[in-house]
Amino acid sequence: MPNRVLDHARIPELPNPYFGKVRDCYDLPDNRRILITTDRISAFDRILAAIPFKGQVLTQMARFWFENTDDICPNHVLDYPDPNVVIGKKLEILPVEIVVRGYLAGTTSTSILTRYKKGERVMYGHEFPDGLRDNAKLAEPIITPTTKAFDGGHDEPLTADEILSRGLLSQEQWQTVSTAALALFKRGQEMVARQGFILVDTKYEFGIDADGTILLADEIHTPDSSRFWLAD
Ligand SMILES: Nc1ncnc2c1ncn2[C@@H]1O[C@H](COP(=O)(O)OP(=O)(O)OP(=O)(O)O)[C@@H](O)[C@H]1O
Ligand SMILES: [Mg+2]
Repeated sequence: MPNRVLDHARIPELPNPYFGKVRDCYDLPDNRRILITTDRISAFDRILAAIPFKGQVLTQMARFWFENTDDICPNHVLDYPDPNVVIGKKLEILPVEIVVRGYLAGTTSTSILTRYKKGERVMYGHEFPDGLRDNAKLAEPIITPTTKAFDGGHDEPLTADEILSRGLLSQEQWQTVSTAALALFKRGQEMVARQGFILVDTKYEFGIDADGTILLADEIHTPDSSRFWLAD
């Protein structure tokens, strides 16, 4: 049987390579970036394996969501020339990952369920009441931002105040991305609810283009960036 797994997409001719856990990326002329989504799967910041066609599924899911949310927030996509490939505007990625959570869920050290079970009641600048059960629905979706660890580091929790006081984002940038993220999440929750799913939590990345405009980058509402549950 032929090898159907795209475990890497190395193109030595192209400049400024970045080999992420999942995507192999390069610059193209005219302020563009090519992002080739491989079949690599990562969890807990490690590459675990490669799964045939995962990269195509991921790219096409992200495409579905980009196309169904561009009325809320403009995104980086210029073209989809291949099932695994996005050509995007080359952005300066903002140094904060905008994580949105609708439920008290998760298993990692930065997850609000893990921290809640350790007794924490103030997390990411939000206060939580006593007595919440595992995986309880939150009163409203919240943003639990983290640093964007470039080059494979681990992301660290932030509060809105820290984002501003450390100068990671301007007040105006934070206003823009936090408003967009909550609106995107609401759209995602409503759309998956109609198919019998719950969008539990997700991560958005934003970047700035050559004109200074903030655009949604990377991917959106994929299983790599999001947690989904069956509604029933
Ligand atoms: N339009 C864009 N312009 C520039 N960089 C982008 C753009 N869209 C996404 N990126 C970056 O390209 C990389 C995509 O690779 P991948 O998703 O494999 O990385 P990752 O392993 O998830 O993240 P990282 O290694 O940065 O922690 C990410 O670093 C992402 O921030
Ligand atoms: Mg990524």
